[in-house]
Amino acid sequence: MSTTNVNTNASASASTNAAAQPVQRVRHPSGNPVGKPATRYLMNCWYAAALSTELPTEGTLARQLLDTSVLLYRKGDGTPVALHDRCPHRFVPLSMGQRHGDDVVCKYHALRFDCSGACTHNPHGNQLIPAAAKVRSYPLQEKWGFVWIWMGDEPADPAKLPDFSPLDDGPPTGIGHTYMPMKANFELIIDNVMDLSHVDHVHGEIITTRGQLTPQIPPVQEENGTVNVRWEWQQTPPIGILAPFLPDPAQSARHFVSVTWHAPATIQLTIGATQDAPQEGEAPLTLDRTQGQYDLHTCTPASATETHYWFATRRNHVVEDADFNQFKIQAMHNAFVSEDGPIIEAVQREMATSDFFALNPVLITSDVAPVRVRRLLARLIEQEGRFA
Ligand code: FES
Ligand SMILES: [Fe+2]
Repeated sequence: MSTTNVNTNASASASTNAAAQPVQRVRHPSGNPVGKPATRYLMNCWYAAALSTELPTEGTLARQLLDTSVLLYRKGDGTPVALHDRCPHRFVPLSMGQRHGDDVVCKYHALRFDCSGACTHNPHGNQLIPAAAKVRSYPLQEKWGFVWIWMGDEPADPAKLPDFSPLDDGPPTGIGHTYMPMKANFELIIDNVMDLSHVDHVHGEIITTRGQLTPQIPPVQEENGTVNVRWEWQQTPPIGILAPFLPDPAQSARHFVSVTWHAPATIQLTIGATQDAPQEGEAPLTLDRTQGQYDLHTCTPASATETHYWFATRRNHVVEDADFNQFKIQAMHNAFVSEDGPIIEAVQREMATSDFFALNPVLITSDVAPVRVRRLLARLIEQEGRFA
């Protein structure tokens, strides 16, 4: 793959000044040369590209992921496909063209590409296919209602996708998925979920914790490349999403929430509540001893300032009720979009940069988990060496 100069002025001065430093060369995350530094993303890992339900069997879905135009669709047999959404001839997005069975035909001069990215037809002149007429295709895995994409230069490693299989435990009426595009850097969204003390202040009746989280200093653990933070508390009445499923929705309940970040940008959150009396020497509360839910928050940067944000929730109560399922996911979606969304997007506008620490933020006790995540992710990006 080719590289390009970051800065043409620097290049010009380097040619006239033998003592100048060599021009730094960077590679765009797609492998294609561009005239600007690439954003600091972790590349050799899995990001969500779409919900399974978003991928069309006819037509295509065009989506920007990690500053790169990506074309997504399903083959006739249902297999998901991801290609760089750029024709190698004149760089027209292939999404402007047409499906031709499992292939795509470019809108501009009708070169045709199969789902591996190989050119399968050139209608021009002698119809020979130039050796360079290839589009990059990206490895995918489809799991738990998501299509996950590998955009790094190293061979895709399926084992690097963490196990979120509890999302599959139960009927389809017990799980909801939703998509919430945000005009904010993805790390601001991760900060928000890793520091749930904001719930006391930001959220309305369905998920308010009634001031119980703010006074706490929750334990944070870093283990096997993950960061976990856990809160336990009591509130009256119980949290709105769980109260109706407890024996007495008006009375106090014990709650827990356990939040675990996995690289690069997925957070698994489990929350539960119970009105059972605590037993002597009882183990910490778990989902199977509470009314609760197993959730996934996953973020994929479109760019440094825009993020695809998805949420999935699998509950352990009223799992056969399709109407409640729809109501529940819509209520959670509305809470995130109308309560978290405006704050996170306002922070982005105010920062106008993704360099959080350079702004010397004031840090308080509830920042331990999000700061650990930021530092760990930065170390992983350093280890990839793209910015060495
Ligand atoms: S730009 Fe695609 S065939 Fe010409
Ligand atoms: Fe929130």
